Amino acid sequence: MLSKRSGEFDRRYGHLPEEVKNKIFSRLKDGKFMSWLDEAPIHIVVCAAKHAIDMREDVAAAIENMLLMIHALGLGGVWVSATVKDAREEEEVKRLLNIPPEFKPLAQICVGYPDQNPKERPKKPLEEVAFFEKWGNPLPFKVED
Ligand SMILES: Cc1cc2nc3c(=O)[nH]c(=O)nc-3n(C[C@H](O)[C@H](O)[C@H](O)COP(=O)(O)O)c2cc1C
Repeated sequence: MLSKRSGEFDRRYGHLPEEVKNKIFSRLKDGKFMSWLDEAPIHIVVCAAKHAIDMREDVAAAIENMLLMIHALGLGGVWVSATVKDAREEEEVKRLLNIPPEFKPLAQICVGYPDQNPKERPKKPLEEVAFFEKWGNPLPFKVED
């Protein structure tokens, strides 16, 4: 479990007992949707400190950094927010993991060794997504790929 407090990571790691994991995961594995969940050996529950200026921005930046590091280590990571999609689920996760009231679980990262090596997705041309001075104005220079 990782939580962010005043700009600094406050790390808490713990082993998730099998029955707790099953309770959290069983409702996520609905048919084929997220059936791969059990295959990931590591699950990081990312929590924000409630006094943060913007909990979602904090957690999103932290997750992105973790995903980059996970990838750099040759592992695979999947950002999952379905775990705490609504208030009832959030309360259940907090109770099962003993998360104190001043922290809010916002997402989970499933980590494992990837069994696929997907091709890089095509990117939109830069002219479609970047403008000069005003929206729609083309860039006054060419950018090499
Ligand atoms: C904010 C956010 C929340 C997500 N939540 C879930 C989720 O709950 N379950 C899920 O299967 N994928 C979720 N995803 C998608 C996966 O993290 C990942 O991007 C996707 O599985 C990549 O698959 P693709 O390679 O087919 O695009 C989420 C992605 C983002 C950015």
